[in-house]
Parts: sequence; C-alpha cells; structure tokens
Amino acid sequence: MTRWAKRVFIGSTLLVAGLISADGPIPPPGAFSGAPGEGSCYNCHAGPTSVPTFTLSAEGKPWSSYVPGGPPVSLSLEVHHPSLPVYGFQLTLVADSSPSDPRPSAGLSGSPNYVAEQTDPFNRKLVSHWRPTPIGRWSFSWQPPTENLGPLSVYMGIVAANGDATTDGDAISMVRFTLLPTAPTALQAGNIAQLGGSFFLPEGSSVAHLYTLEGRYLRSYTGKGPHALPHKGIFLLQLDGGAFLRIANLSE
Ligand code: HEC
Repeated sequence: MTRWAKRVFIGSTLLVAGLISADGPIPPPGAFSGAPGEGSCYNCHAGPTSVPTFTLSAEGKPWSSYVPGGPPVSLSLEVHHPSLPVYGFQLTLVADSSPSDPRPSAGLSGSPNYVAEQTDPFNRKLVSHWRPTPIGRWSFSWQPPTENLGPLSVYMGIVAANGDATTDGDAISMVRFTLLPTAPTALQAGNIAQLGGSFFLPEGSSVAHLYTLEGRYLRSYTGKGPHALPHKGIFLLQLDGGAFLRIANLSE
C-alpha cells in the first residue's frame, strides 16, 4: 500500500473504532505478545532496527522467580527509546511444560493503573497498554498460581512509536524470560530420605520439582524414573506440587 492509501485505510479503521466507542481504550489487538500460538507486534508494526529498552520489576526487584501459592506481586514496567516518544506493551505468562494451561496468566490484573486486560484464544489473560502513552510507565499485578507449575515464561511485546498514528517508523522488541518456582522456606519438611545418585517417583506421583535447601529451583522430573540427582548433597523434592521431602545424594 502507498503511504497515502495506508493513511486512508487506517483513518477509516479509526473512524469505525471511533463510532463504536467515542472515547474508548485503544490497546493493541487481542493476542500479539509472542506467546506460543499468538502473533507478535511485528505482524503490523515495522521500522528502525534499534529496539526499545525496558525494566520490569517485581516489588522493586528483578522478576525472576515466583512462590506457588504466594501473595500477589506488584509489577512495574518502564519502556525507553532514545528518539521515539510513544509507547505500548502487551504481556502474558505461560507454563513451559504446558503452553495452553491458562493458570499462569489467570492472576494478571490491570489495576492499579490504566492497564487493559484481554484474553487470547487459549484463554490466557494478557495485560496491555490502555492507550499509547508518552510516559511509558505502567504498574499492574500478578497473583501467582497456587500450584507449582514448574518454570513459567513471561512473553512481552513492546513498541516505541513515532506517534504518527501509523504502524511505520516504530521500534519493536519481543521479549521472553523465565520465572523459576521458589519453595517457601516454611514448607521445608523434616523427614529425610537417604538415596544414592538416583531415585524413582513414588506410585501415584507424576511430576517432582527439585530445589536446593535454600528454596532455589533446580529442575523438574516427570515419569517414574530412575531420575538422577545433579550432584552429592541434600535437596528438597516437591511431589506433584504438594508436600516437600528432604532427599540426600550420599554417593560420590
Ligand atoms: C493487527 C495489527 C496490529 C498489531 C498486531 C499491533 N498493532 Fe499497534 N497499532 C496498530 C495500528 C493500525 C496502529 C495505528 C493506529 C493508532 O495509532 O491507533 C497502532 C498503533 C500503536 C501504537 C501507537 C503508535 C503511534 O504512532 O501513535 C502503539 C504504542 C502500539 N500500536 C503498540 C503495539 C504493541 C505493543 C503491539 C504488540 C503487543 C502492537 N501494537 C501490535 C496495529 C497493530
């Protein structure tokens, strides 16, 4: 399309949107966070190769872990670009082991700010900019799932735009990073199983998550086994997102 024709096309789209809701929100359309099965901001936006930078923090710290069943987390996002002045974003969460599971994103909430909530065709919840903004700063919140769903991926699309009301001349960044589940220290169990370097999951258990004694997630195991422990030492093993066992690898 020529630039002129594009203007007319977008102009008429805006007019229709305007008729539907005279002064309504203009978040990005449905599902373009880059999560499995979704599109990305590149489906429509194009422009310079420079990318917007961002900081996304949870309770003021880097967002890299979650506590299953833990309290709600306050998130804040800031997007910057050296020359492009209008910003937008869209974000969702996905369980790496089961991308269509809606539970990781179910706890996303657009409050306390003007952040839009949307739903994608997989019933995942998304949070997005409500209107493109020259401030590029949003806060929203997330209630972690009650179950331990193993590693979760955060998918996010961000756009820094030139503000000309078209999809040209904009800078785009598609981001993915991982949140690892953290064992709440209060759940550390007293019983200790003495093991060699490998173990089997007990009858009736289908998944186990392995942690250090400090609650740092190491890895997940599925199926009966035998499963290898990474090295000599004492670990926490959580069976099916429930009780924690202390297990020891005493072999050299
Ligand atoms: C299906 C097409 C489509 C997709 C996908 C899309 N956008 Fe847009 N976006 C548009 C159109 C059309 C405009 C221009 C009209 C306007 O300014 O409202 C626009 C405008 C914007 C603007 C304001 C630009 C300006 O110059 O004022 C921002 C910010 C924005 N989009 C962010 C995003 C983000 C972030 C994503 C990905 C999560 C995204 N968009 C995905 C179609 C899309």
